Amino acid sequence: MRPTYVAAIDQGTTSTRCLLFDREGRMVSVAQQLHRQHYPQPGWVEHDAEEIWQLVCRLVPQALADVDAAPDQIAGLGITNQRETTVVWDRVTGLPVAPAIGWQDTRTSACLSELTSDFDPAELTRRTGLPLAGYFSGPKLRWILDSDPALRHRAERGELLFGTMDTWLVWKLTGGLHVTDVTNASRTLLMDLETLRWDDELLACMHIPREMLPEIRPSMGSFGTTRHPIDGIPVCALVGDQQASLLGQTAFEPGQAKCTFGTGSFLLMNTGTELVRSRSGLITTVAPSVEGEETVYALEGSVAVAGALVEWCRNSLGLIRHPAEIETLALSVEDNGGCYVVPAFAGLYAPYWEPAAQGVIVGLTSYVTKGHLARAVLEATAWQTKDVVDAMNADAGVPVSFLAVDGGMTSNNLLMQAVADVLDVPVQRPMMAESVALGAAYAAGLSAGYWPDRSLLRSHWHRAAEWRSSMTAEHRREQLSQWREAVELSIEWGR
Ligand code: G3P
Repeated sequence: MRPTYVAAIDQGTTSTRCLLFDREGRMVSVAQQLHRQHYPQPGWVEHDAEEIWQLVCRLVPQALADVDAAPDQIAGLGITNQRETTVVWDRVTGLPVAPAIGWQDTRTSACLSELTSDFDPAELTRRTGLPLAGYFSGPKLRWILDSDPALRHRAERGELLFGTMDTWLVWKLTGGLHVTDVTNASRTLLMDLETLRWDDELLACMHIPREMLPEIRPSMGSFGTTRHPIDGIPVCALVGDQQASLLGQTAFEPGQAKCTFGTGSFLLMNTGTELVRSRSGLITTVAPSVEGEETVYALEGSVAVAGALVEWCRNSLGLIRHPAEIETLALSVEDNGGCYVVPAFAGLYAPYWEPAAQGVIVGLTSYVTKGHLARAVLEATAWQTKDVVDAMNADAGVPVSFLAVDGGMTSNNLLMQAVADVLDVPVQRPMMAESVALGAAYAAGLSAGYWPDRSLLRSHWHRAAEWRSSMTAEHRREQLSQWREAVELSIEWGR
């Protein structure tokens, strides 16, 4: 029988989903559930990897049942995931030995030079494409091993395994295949960007035993067959979520870029087979790769807090009851009333890389209302996007001429208008704004031969909405300079 669907597991920062797509790239089934966020100390963010696995066990059968699909109707499964989040588990029991350290967690930021044994940071960046920052998995893994001598001892004896969420899930699904893909491995500070292999010197300087690391493979290929929770689905792709959305947006050509607005926001530009080294505070990363093909690279502007700021307004301030209400509240006023929010909850990522920066709200007067604050919250995401686009333009030499966007926050029209206003380029959202999951499905479907080649996938991309700037250049200049002053204050405050 000709397979009917491809499946994707999208293991994100706040939720896990299983989705099925048909040959036209339409989403035909989705099962989703949130998982708990643990904040045991200021700056710490933890997840329970076992809880996430239990969710996968429920969601995969549910997504298939919703359309009455049997496992042999699934051409292949692609796994996409929140990147950098670090899991360590027992090879025999399959149970995590410590809480998973989330990508936004800042516990290692203050002791980074210690954790990397004073390895020259410039050389580290040259080899990995990454700045020395607590965002990445290597320092988090070292922290876990240093936190308990018994764990380090067991890791050295080969009893413990390390993985990001892709590795953890494929190990559980297949009953023991210990692998990762290049996109995820490129976020560890442990992989050489040119050879796409673990770098022994970096492992030594971070005191990480090689035995616990997964094998690095291209993103598309064969990753075994599921044994749990359903038998017999071929796993055909592993890919980090932001690289997956590059594929979902069909940004196949050098120069094409996309920005995904989720918990954080992540702007990636395909740079083709050229490994472009940023001079402007961006990351060099790997695009989804295929066995036997030349590696394609991307430049990335990572912003830690976008949707997470709206969540904070709901969960911690009680300003709104539902994320969508932030737009209604912001629309109750004309402008930000002079107020700016810099959400440096995890320090500041690109292009600043200031791990100690702290969040600030500036410009408060008795004139400022909840509505102004809501506007400032949305504008924070727009200005952070402007900061990374400026860096991208400086690095690429050719300015971004339009921006393809996706992710949950793109349903917020006011935010998308603000992004177009500050960037002064058209912002376009496709009909299928779940580009991360779609990209994982594309990766699996290409690898399984469900779709013959990439060119066909382009015909699935349809523009749903476009926003163009309505801001005067003078107004943009004034607001940008106030935003940048607020960023300086956020950096100063953390010093
Ligand atoms: O690098 C972190 C990123 O992969 C998280 O993505 O969509 O959960 O914000 P998201």
